[in-house]
Amino acid sequence: MANLDDLQKLRDQALAQLAEVRDDALEAWRIAWLGAKGAVKAAMGKLKEIPPEHRSEYGKLANDLKQALSSAFEARKATVSTVKRGPVTDVTLPGEASRIGHQHLITQTVAELNEIFGRMGFSTAYGPEVEDERHNFNALNIPPSHPARDELDNFYISPSVMLRSQTSTVQIRVMESQSPPVRIIAPGRVYRPDTVDATHSFMFHQVEGLYVDEGVTMADLKTCLDQFCKAYFGPDITTRLRPSFFPFTEPSAELDVLFHFDDGRKAWVELGGCGMVDPNVLDDVGYDSEKYTGFAFGLGIERMVMRKYGIPDIRLLFENDVRFLQQF
Ligand code: DAH
Repeated sequence: MANLDDLQKLRDQALAQLAEVRDDALEAWRIAWLGAKGAVKAAMGKLKEIPPEHRSEYGKLANDLKQALSSAFEARKATVSTVKRGPVTDVTLPGEASRIGHQHLITQTVAELNEIFGRMGFSTAYGPEVEDERHNFNALNIPPSHPARDELDNFYISPSVMLRSQTSTVQIRVMESQSPPVRIIAPGRVYRPDTVDATHSFMFHQVEGLYVDEGVTMADLKTCLDQFCKAYFGPDITTRLRPSFFPFTEPSAELDVLFHFDDGRKAWVELGGCGMVDPNVLDDVGYDSEKYTGFAFGLGIERMVMRKYGIPDIRLLFENDVRFLQQF
């Protein structure tokens, strides 16, 4: 049965050990004697076994024991050299926050485009950024004499290889690899040697769209683009198609959206081109242009992003200043 002498024995034993223990075993000593499962705690747990008349004395001595060992431990610890091997962590210093990554606004927008067009039944296709002239021009009904092929307006790598100047290349690649019906969008980078200013960059992003099936009409095109703009900009946006010309569509149009500016001004802003796929383009990839019709569009992603978020300068999107990017 536990008794008062036990406490005295514990005390002698513990202090004797403490006197012998090496600096690097000090903590082990503390755990063994003063820890939550240590000997002092165990001795205190024996209080129940003590005859009632000795209990208060036992309790007091047990507390004294704890105090005495704690002070002896602190005193001994104070003598241990604080120069330790390895780095000392000062837990009172403010921490260094780990940096969490943030998706670029263009990346976020591409995901949103995939999502909106996905709901309309479009899947996403990709093509190479280094292209041949067939996919960038010939197959899109752009003849060798066409001014769009000018050396000064394109990044040529060799006379027949270039950085693509438009995502329309992906229309051709998709149609070459599958038979109709086709319903895809193709977001991606395009390159043109434009002088950089607030609205121009030598690299920017487009999203191409292509829908080919039996009986596709201009009304489908208009509805699709209008629905897209309402989903992206908000239900109140007004859109219009303005007649235009592209070699690979007939008829061709420009898509404009009407913006209401904060100062009350309104203006039509062009988002990109579109039209009904020219039968020459369908024939060239081996589609039966008597049976199938299609629409296509190519919109500037920076343009829509800058409008939607009121970003005044395209360069902000490519300087990668985190203070700017983190706002989105
Ligand atoms: N590729 C054209 C451009 O970069 C935009 C375009 C116009 C794409 C009409 C189309 C289209 O698919 O049908 O200026």
